[in-house]
Amino acid sequence: MKPKAILFDAYGTLFNVNSAAEKCKNKIGSKWENFANFWRTTQLEYTWLRSLMKKHKDFWQVTEDSLDKSMKVFNIDISLKNELLNLYKILSPYPEVKEVLTKLKGKKLKLAILSNGTPKLLEGLVKNNNLNNLFDDLFSVEEVKIYKPDSKVYDLPIKKYKIKPEEIIFLSANTWDVSGGGNYGYNSVWVNRNKSHFDNLDYHPNNEIGNLTQLLDIV
Ligand code: LAC
Repeated sequence: MKPKAILFDAYGTLFNVNSAAEKCKNKIGSKWENFANFWRTTQLEYTWLRSLMKKHKDFWQVTEDSLDKSMKVFNIDISLKNELLNLYKILSPYPEVKEVLTKLKGKKLKLAILSNGTPKLLEGLVKNNNLNNLFDDLFSVEEVKIYKPDSKVYDLPIKKYKIKPEEIIFLSANTWDVSGGGNYGYNSVWVNRNKSHFDNLDYHPNNEIGNLTQLLDIV
C-alpha cells in the first residue's frame, strides 16, 4: 500500500488504557483488571450515549464520570481517585510504538493521531512518552464536539490534508472504531493484540495485525 497518511487511534491502540489501574494493582487487589475493563467500557458507553443525546462533554470529564461509577461498582476507596486520574494522563505506550513510528517517520507520508481525547490530553500523552516529534497532527474530536464513530470525526484529516479516505490507513485496536473508520472509507487495519473476534457490524477490516510492528510489512 502507498498511503498518503497513516492515522492512529490513541487509547487502546498506541497507549494501554489498563496501565493506570495496573500501576495501582497492589492497592486495588486482584479485581484490578475487571475494574479497568469496566471503567473503559463505561467510558466508551458514555461517549456513544452523549453523542446520541447531543450532550457533549469532553473526554477528560467523561473519563472522570465513568471512573466515579466504576469505583462505586467495584467498591474501591475514593482516596485512589486522584491517583488513577493522574495515571490516566500518563498512560504507557505499547512497547513497539516508538520504534515503529520512528521507522515510519522516514517515509513520505503524514503521521497523525485521530482520537476522542482532548488536545491537552493527547499533547500530554505524546510529550510524556517522548513521541511528540513523531506526529504531524493530533486530531481531536473536540474540533467537532461529537465522538467516534460519527463521520464528522473521520472527516477531520480529510479536510486538513485534502486527500481521499482510501488514501489513508487507519489503525485501531477498538473493533467498533475500525468499523467506523472503515465504513467511512478509510483503509482499515485492526490491531488485534489479544487474538479477539471482530464485531458483527456488516464490515470486515481490510487488514489485521497482531501488533504495530507488522504495519511495517504493509506500507
Ligand atoms: C480514541 C478511543 C476510541 O482514542 O480509543 O479515540
